[in-house]
Amino acid sequence: MNNYQSDNRKFALTTPLYYVNGVPHIGSAYTTIVADALARFQRLQGKSVLLITGTDEHGQKIQRTAAEQGLEPQVHCDHIVDSFKSLWDKLNIKYDRFSRTTAASHQAIVNEFFQRVWDTGDIYLDRQQGWYCVSCEEFKEEKELLENHYCAIHTNKQAEWRDEENYFFRLSNYQQQLEQLYDSQPDFLQPASRRNEVVNFVKQGLKDFSISRVNLDWGFPIPVAPNHTIYVWFDALLGYVTALLEPGQEPTLENALSQWWPINLHLIGKDILRFHAVYWPAMLVSAGLPIPEKIFGHGFLTKDGLKMGKTLGNTIDPFDLVDRYGADAVRYYFLKEIELGKDGDFNETRFINVLNADLANDLGNLLNRNLGMLQKYCQGYGPQLTVADYGSDHPLKNIGVDLGDRVVQACENLQFSKACEEVLTLVRASNKYIDDSAPWSLFKQGKQAEVEQILYAVLESVRLSAYLLAPIIPNLSSKIYQQLGFDWDFNSDLEEQAKDIFQIHSQWGKLPANKTLGKASPVFSKLELP
Ligand code: MSP
Repeated sequence: MNNYQSDNRKFALTTPLYYVNGVPHIGSAYTTIVADALARFQRLQGKSVLLITGTDEHGQKIQRTAAEQGLEPQVHCDHIVDSFKSLWDKLNIKYDRFSRTTAASHQAIVNEFFQRVWDTGDIYLDRQQGWYCVSCEEFKEEKELLENHYCAIHTNKQAEWRDEENYFFRLSNYQQQLEQLYDSQPDFLQPASRRNEVVNFVKQGLKDFSISRVNLDWGFPIPVAPNHTIYVWFDALLGYVTALLEPGQEPTLENALSQWWPINLHLIGKDILRFHAVYWPAMLVSAGLPIPEKIFGHGFLTKDGLKMGKTLGNTIDPFDLVDRYGADAVRYYFLKEIELGKDGDFNETRFINVLNADLANDLGNLLNRNLGMLQKYCQGYGPQLTVADYGSDHPLKNIGVDLGDRVVQACENLQFSKACEEVLTLVRASNKYIDDSAPWSLFKQGKQAEVEQILYAVLESVRLSAYLLAPIIPNLSSKIYQQLGFDWDFNSDLEEQAKDIFQIHSQWGKLPANKTLGKASPVFSKLELP
């Protein structure tokens, strides 16, 4: 088998595989937007990227949801999968794989993996007694539950008592290895607060967990005991592996793991940290496989400061949000306004204010003003200047020269909010620079060279800003680039030449600017409250 060396020209990342108990909500949209921005950012730098998303379709929760609607589970799943795909299209998510846990190829992978763990001796039959939250698909300790056994996460759902024979996975065997992992690879689990949470949990001692269910048909039968089905989480985590198969490839672990393993990043929400940071690495070690490089647990979204939920009736419909404001607006708000890792709030007034301030006023107007002046004072051509024509104390060159490096650094660390702020510093400085240097009066005084110096500096600043923000607001950046005379679309594949393009376009003042510029037209219209 391949030695699974990670290759720094490649980057594989995953969103969680979403439950299909309902149409996608804003929480699923949030994780997927972050994953897409990171994937686009890696592609922009010329890396080969595999962005994996998909759906988690087995288990009691899904079986019950389908039954409530009088549908066969598979019919229900197919229907919901369509709505996920359509939301990803609307949000401009460029995923490479959509992994469904009901796929036939997935069953082959699950069986092979199960067999490996079985052969290691890590699976045994025992009696499972305990409180089960169907919404979490997880057994809970009595102390973790609220009064009357209500779930602390799904506060309107009561956990159910179970007493049945299940197959168990010997998680307790991996206590030491897991502790060593968190210790020796502090970056494995991020941010640091989540790492501490997991380390403390593991320190209390790990218990084996059951990986099969009886009296539940909606799942894969356990190869050694077909009256049991495989526990939905054991099945779902392996969906990440199945996703790595090339379309049509024979579904074996060897094939699946040959190109993209180990996965570089699992991006998840904080509620499913234990499964990814404790169960998953232990399962992989048991099967003799290397573990993923990094897990990042983001925070939860609230609405107007309140926990979102169907009971409170304050959920945000992501379809509606995109229909009203467009994909770029939604992407920008969640990436810029919420520091990844922390909980974040959605408030519609703030949403509108942020977008109007940053994208309509600061960035959109900057482009418009500059193009207007270039038409008037330079006959619509970019002046023939380069970075060398500016002193190091020039206010825009000063910010622009290593902006690309700062943004790369921020994005590598998943600090998209910081990346946006860095770019905005240049955008705001550019607006101020135009006001301060008043090229219109210099033009009247016949100082053409000075006018050109000013306009080229702003042109490069607006171009660089659009380029660096392209993973976040691809449509808007494409429009800006097109008005600057580039025949580009940041949504199309640039992989082949991306690296060379990045070397030039991520730098301030590197572009030969004697280009015919496009016509100025507003790129981002002001939003209004409904
Ligand atoms: N099916 C499992 C994942 C299996 S991965 C092998 C699952 N699915 S889920 O659909 O319930 O949740 C998917 C993601 O949505 C989780 O990362 C979760 O954190 C996220 N969110 C759900 N509600 C959320 C908010 N209110 N805010 C932000 N993200 C939240 O768990």
